[in-house]
Amino acid sequence: MNLGSLVVTFYGHATFGLKIDDRKHWMLDPWLDENPACPDRLKSPPKIDTILISHPHFDHIGDAVRLATRDDALCACIAETAAWLRKKGVKKTLGFNKGGTADIDGIKVTMTHAVHSCGITDGDEIIYGGEAAGYVITLPSGLRLYHAGDTCVFSDMKLIGDLYHPDIAFLPIGDFYTMDPLQGSHAIRMLGSKVVVPMHYGTFPALTGTPEKLRELTADISGLRIIDIKPGETLAGEVDRLVTA
Ligand code: NI
Ligand code: MN
Repeated sequence: MNLGSLVVTFYGHATFGLKIDDRKHWMLDPWLDENPACPDRLKSPPKIDTILISHPHFDHIGDAVRLATRDDALCACIAETAAWLRKKGVKKTLGFNKGGTADIDGIKVTMTHAVHSCGITDGDEIIYGGEAAGYVITLPSGLRLYHAGDTCVFSDMKLIGDLYHPDIAFLPIGDFYTMDPLQGSHAIRMLGSKVVVPMHYGTFPALTGTPEKLRELTADISGLRIIDIKPGETLAGEVDRLVTA
């Protein structure tokens, strides 16, 4: 599989940068400043056009207001979280909901289900943030990505596989707050994706799932590539011959 003009940078935990067609910079679940997995040199990323947020837990939204304000970036997420971001001074938001597809600069983003909690910690209060979600992102090239957000495994991942056939799936495998490798291995079977990037593991001691365990549990799936890029590394070009740098 060739990523074409897509360059994916892993910032650690669940945070990814996407450079699309050498013109659009997206960030998924931005958490940089306080992210123990994020290398210092990446804490001030290049100008961002669009920020996509799976749910408003601190480890997914921590730097959204800072970066959206810095770059006048669009924040796309579920409607209730978008309303909270507007209150915090974010000017450009796109609040939509599960099942819906937003067209952002020719890039199609479909919000999917996720099974996880969704409160927003705001000072000493927890505010209703809507529901946790995932995203299927369809690039102009036709390449499809699925970022699951935080979730346990759920059988409707089969529908996501049937409807969208994601080429690359970004899946949480750390356990404790999300799927563990066993659930991840079932997710991969339902999604049918042949390239999987594990995330949300190793950041804290409680996140014990490993890519090695996920590989062991999916060894029977032919053609599957589990690519555990490390924070600060980039994914580009021909995935089958990929050497991360
Ligand atoms: Ni969460
Ligand atoms: Mn999380």
